[in-house]
Amino acid sequence: MKELSLHILDIAQNSIKAEAEVLRIAIIESLYEDQLTIKIKDDGIGMDSETVKKVVDPFYTTRTTRKVGLGIPLFKSSAEQCEGYFNINSQLGKGTEIVAVFKHSHIDRVPLGNMPETIITILNGCDEMDLIYTHDFNGYTFTLNSKEIKKLLDGVPISNNDVIRWLRDYVAEGLAEIYSEGSSK
Ligand SMILES: Nc1ncnc2c1ncn2[C@@H]1O[C@H](COP(=O)(O)OP(=O)(O)O)[C@@H](O)[C@H]1O
Ligand SMILES: [Mg+2]
Repeated sequence: MKELSLHILDIAQNSIKAEAEVLRIAIIESLYEDQLTIKIKDDGIGMDSETVKKVVDPFYTTRTTRKVGLGIPLFKSSAEQCEGYFNINSQLGKGTEIVAVFKHSHIDRVPLGNMPETIITILNGCDEMDLIYTHDFNGYTFTLNSKEIKKLLDGVPISNNDVIRWLRDYVAEGLAEIYSEGSSK
């Protein structure tokens, strides 16, 4: 994919389908370690180990038609092509955690993409699920917790146009801040 945020959106949609109540997205960028880590964790229905094997390996089944999509294998190969690694941990009834690590400076690492838009799309797509997004850049962290925002909104839905606009700016400004602070160190 052209941007890592498209992978994040795809993986988050799996969590929504899996009826997660809380979705955690953590992005950790460290220029010192030359690493970009993406962790996506949900408390949805989870998968048994057979299913995990099946969804990770696109060639697991010899049939010509594959019942499940390629979102997970694509994310895995993106990381592995960038001297990184991919890990998935899932437990039936408990939830799923996916970790993808990239070499930050790798020539094939695509840009992160538009995170404010991605966060809004996820929040807009599922009113019942809460999202905790943390983004760390060289030790400076931005956090968004939809549970806290909903409390402040006092009944106004997150999908409200004004709320969405405000959220987009809030995330964009928060990220601009950590990028600027983390770069000037
Ligand atoms: N977070 C998750 N919780 C439970 N099941 C999941 C999760 N992520 C993926 N799966 C299972 O793995 C399958 C493959 O996911 P994916 O590769 O993204 O393709 P697709 O979503 O198009 O089916 C899903 O259809 C679902 O059955
Ligand atoms: Mg998917």
